[in-house]
Amino acid sequence: MTLPDRYTRPAIVFHWTIAALIALNVVMIWLIDTFPESWTRPTIDLHKSIGLTVLGLAAMRILWRVTHAPPPPPAGQKRWEITAAHLAHFALYVVIVGLPLSGYMHDSAFKLAPEHPLTWFGLFEVPRIGWIMDTAQPDKERLHGVFYGWHAAFAYALYVLFVLHVGGALKHQWLDRQRELQRMGV
Ligand code: HEM
Repeated sequence: MTLPDRYTRPAIVFHWTIAALIALNVVMIWLIDTFPESWTRPTIDLHKSIGLTVLGLAAMRILWRVTHAPPPPPAGQKRWEITAAHLAHFALYVVIVGLPLSGYMHDSAFKLAPEHPLTWFGLFEVPRIGWIMDTAQPDKERLHGVFYGWHAAFAYALYVLFVLHVGGALKHQWLDRQRELQRMGV
């Protein structure tokens, strides 16, 4: 495959690193109830650290994306397929920011925040969002629930977009016989 048909190397690294970290975070939360009780708090702390990493990587990835044009769509793709792919990609960007950001907002409204600092893998403390921390009870408790609702809604949007995204890529790869996966370094 010639070079212009492929995403840049940093775009490929961002894509697979963010995908792997999101998958790890989702699977960890799905399994959390099967872990021993004593693992719950460390697992949630790990979930938060991975999520904050995704938020930082997503910001860098978006900066990279707006400054580096992606390769043109493979020859033979129909207009509606190109539009659908653009819409799905845009929605995925919204989700990879909105999902960790809403988790961060949810955590900033945590009533036990003072006794339980937010850290990045235990290495340093990450400040919580000031205006949320400073909200008085009972509004803060209400926000805690609202932001969790957003966090869960973004997670459901992620599951739907994931199916569309992977389904689209595999359709181009297997049915249309285009070298779709190779564009993303596979
Ligand atoms: C890669 C980014 C993230 C993903 C994919 C993710 C995914 C999820 C999912 C799927 C849930 C369960 C939602 C449900 O009830 O259906 C959840 C819960 C939660 N998330 Fe996240 N999240 C991310 C980032 C964050 C961040 C950055 C924070 C906080 C700093 C956070 C804090 C939480 C908390 C506290 C819960 C509740 C856990 C529990 O009490 O069992 N998340 N997350």
